[in-house]
Amino acid sequence: MLQIRYKHVLLLSISAVFVVAVFFLREDISSVSRPIIEEVHDKISPPPELPKKPKYKETSSVPYPPVKENFPLAQAAHSAADLPPIPSWNAPPKPHVEEKTPLFIGFTRNWRVLQQVVVSYITAGWPAEDIYVIENTGVMDSNKNGLLSLQNPFFLNHTRLNMLGVNVIQTPTLFTFAQLQNFYLYTSIQKKWDYYFWSHMDIIVASYEDRDPPATPEQPAPHHEEPHKFRSVYQNCLLALRKTLALPKTEPWAMRFFSYDRLALVNVQTFIDVGGWDTLIPFYTTDCDMHFRLSDSGYSIEEVPVGMVYDVAASLDDLVVMYRQQPGSGPGPFKVPLQPTFKDPNVIEAELQAIADSEAKAAHDGLNSTLLETRQEDLIPRQDDWHEDTAIPSPSQSFLDLLHTYDAITASKHASSRGRNTWQARATGGKGEPFYRDSAGFETGIQMTIEHGRRVFGQKWGHRDCDLPQQGLHVGDEWRVVQDWE
Ligand SMILES: *[C@@H]1O[C@H](CO)[C@@H](O)[C@H](O)[C@H]1NC(C)=O
Ligand SMILES: *[C@@H]1O[C@H](CO)[C@@H](O)[C@H](O)[C@H]1NC(C)=O
Repeated sequence: MLQIRYKHVLLLSISAVFVVAVFFLREDISSVSRPIIEEVHDKISPPPELPKKPKYKETSSVPYPPVKENFPLAQAAHSAADLPPIPSWNAPPKPHVEEKTPLFIGFTRNWRVLQQVVVSYITAGWPAEDIYVIENTGVMDSNKNGLLSLQNPFFLNHTRLNMLGVNVIQTPTLFTFAQLQNFYLYTSIQKKWDYYFWSHMDIIVASYEDRDPPATPEQPAPHHEEPHKFRSVYQNCLLALRKTLALPKTEPWAMRFFSYDRLALVNVQTFIDVGGWDTLIPFYTTDCDMHFRLSDSGYSIEEVPVGMVYDVAASLDDLVVMYRQQPGSGPGPFKVPLQPTFKDPNVIEAELQAIADSEAKAAHDGLNSTLLETRQEDLIPRQDDWHEDTAIPSPSQSFLDLLHTYDAITASKHASSRGRNTWQARATGGKGEPFYRDSAGFETGIQMTIEHGRRVFGQKWGHRDCDLPQQGLHVGDEWRVVQDWE
């Protein structure tokens, strides 16, 4: 027990501390408004400078045209039953073949081009339930929850893909190309798949409907079976898969290319054996690095023709033409345009440039200008451009029309004055939406990462080009060879 005297002392001390604390606190508060303190402060350090005004870069005067949905029929559909049937000659085998045939298609930007490749695989016979769109947008659940708009470069419509019967897997964060490839590997290991197919998203595939597959060293010309046997893209891939699975252990295989790696088959174990993709080389030349390590380790990589593969940067105006349904034929109210159409983005961009130039001139001349946006709308072809009243062409004619249009889309990609990968940066909207990124800035950052990867490749092999075998290099030489350029 404390004595009464000590209790008083303790109480007094506590009161004293309290009084002193309150006094200093008040001093402190009042000092804020006391000019004299500020004067003293002035002498100690200079007044804070006003923040600098950032000098902004000049922005491009030519906006891209707004993104327009390229499958209006699916947009309006309530379920898969409202979609046209797969062309019968391309339809996947039912029931599903014994082998698993998973196909990965990576996606980061450009919904139209992605939807186009997916529909092209489905209509070329790939079972929709075997297609895995890998959403590598870095927007987490935003697309799944429908929070991005069509104008956002990273927009992806999960509902649509599910309606088409396709799976979507999300990467946990935005991956580079090499990381994405390792994610395919990882996913296959998790799912216990010994092999998988993967495809670029900026392509269109079509079956050899009007021709024999081209000759190869393995199948010298003429590669013609009697009677003529038609196989869809899917059936040819399946055949290639079966041939690799039948190989003896003494002939280990790593990959089958169906049009370089635009569409390829991967043997999971061999990729594990060489240590997977080198993520230090994020984009271009990481393929050279990977394929070199595989072939130098004795695993075969062969090119096999399975169908036509078009390298594209733009989309058909309306994907329904891929279903090849004629007006009024088949079940449902399908009105299929007889002519596949596509609006060349290079032409649209040139027209927009011309409008922007004339508007700049008009503004300069003090004239009023029309809103650019309304004019952009005019440049987008309208759906009623369909030629419904012309004669119904034979199926092979509809096929030739499609190939002709695919050729034009391919030519447009290679003719683009802004480089062949403009398709990735065509949508520029989405401001204010989750994980918003400046479209042009994102592209710049990616380009810099690509450049960095090329430099890593050069240092890794002492050589900057893909012809590593010709340099006498082998696995084990990594990082040990002096660079062969000045
Ligand atoms: C996504 O697709 C569904 C099904 O086709 C459609 O109803 C919906 O409007 C689409 N969402 C957007 C934002 O386009
Ligand atoms: C320019 O056009 C807009 C929209 O038509 C109009 O509201 C505005 O008054 C016009 N300005 C001049 C200077 O004519």
